[in-house]
Amino acid sequence: MGTDKDTRTINFSNINGSNPILIRRCTLEDLEGVIEINEKELPEDYPYFFYKSILDNFTESFLIAVDINNNVIGYIMWRVEKVPAIDSLKITNKGHLVSIAVIKVSRRLGIAQTLLTKSMEEIKKKIIDEFVLEVRVSNYPAINLYKKYNFSTQSIKYKYYRDGENAYFMVCKAK
Ligand code: ACO
Ligand code: ZN
Repeated sequence: MGTDKDTRTINFSNINGSNPILIRRCTLEDLEGVIEINEKELPEDYPYFFYKSILDNFTESFLIAVDINNNVIGYIMWRVEKVPAIDSLKITNKGHLVSIAVIKVSRRLGIAQTLLTKSMEEIKKKIIDEFVLEVRVSNYPAINLYKKYNFSTQSIKYKYYRDGENAYFMVCKAK
């Protein structure tokens, strides 16, 4: 498990030359910024310990986008779940996209795509067989994004959200 010290300096990339945006791993100091974005941009809120446990257990794929002042402007977090295979006694790993969001003023710059690409590379190292996620059936921008990454709808989870909205359960094979 990486410490704050070593995660802070790796995984940097500059996705916009004139207005630098850096993609790097999230650290403990960044969590407040992540939570702020989640609360603003998504109706699903999680308690602090939930973020902290994802950060502790799945550090490598918990990425953030920061602006030149080191303010968090986007994040992505995953967890890896062990699931019994349907057709054998084998246990398989699934990469589950827990949450992704980008602040409104920084959208359509490719930040979500960069976060997805880089975090999926990290998740793949855990030898997973597929990536999975839930998304609101009305969330056209996100569904569009996932389709671009070859996710397809496997099923509908009825009334998945607290307000009663259905979710698409989307899956993408890891290979
Ligand atoms: N309309 C249609 N397609 C869109 C839109 C939009 N408004 N925004 C993004 N996309 C799709 C497009 O396919 C786009 O590719 P293109 O620009 O070549 O057409 C692709 O997504 C990538 O766009 P990015 O610029 O990388 O996406 P962005 O950084 O704007 O972030 C995101 C997309 C994360 C969905 C953003 O709109 C957001 O934060 N929304 C609110 C939070 C949210 O809904 N998160 C997903 C919830 S589900 C979950 O977390 C598992
Ligand atoms: Zn989920």
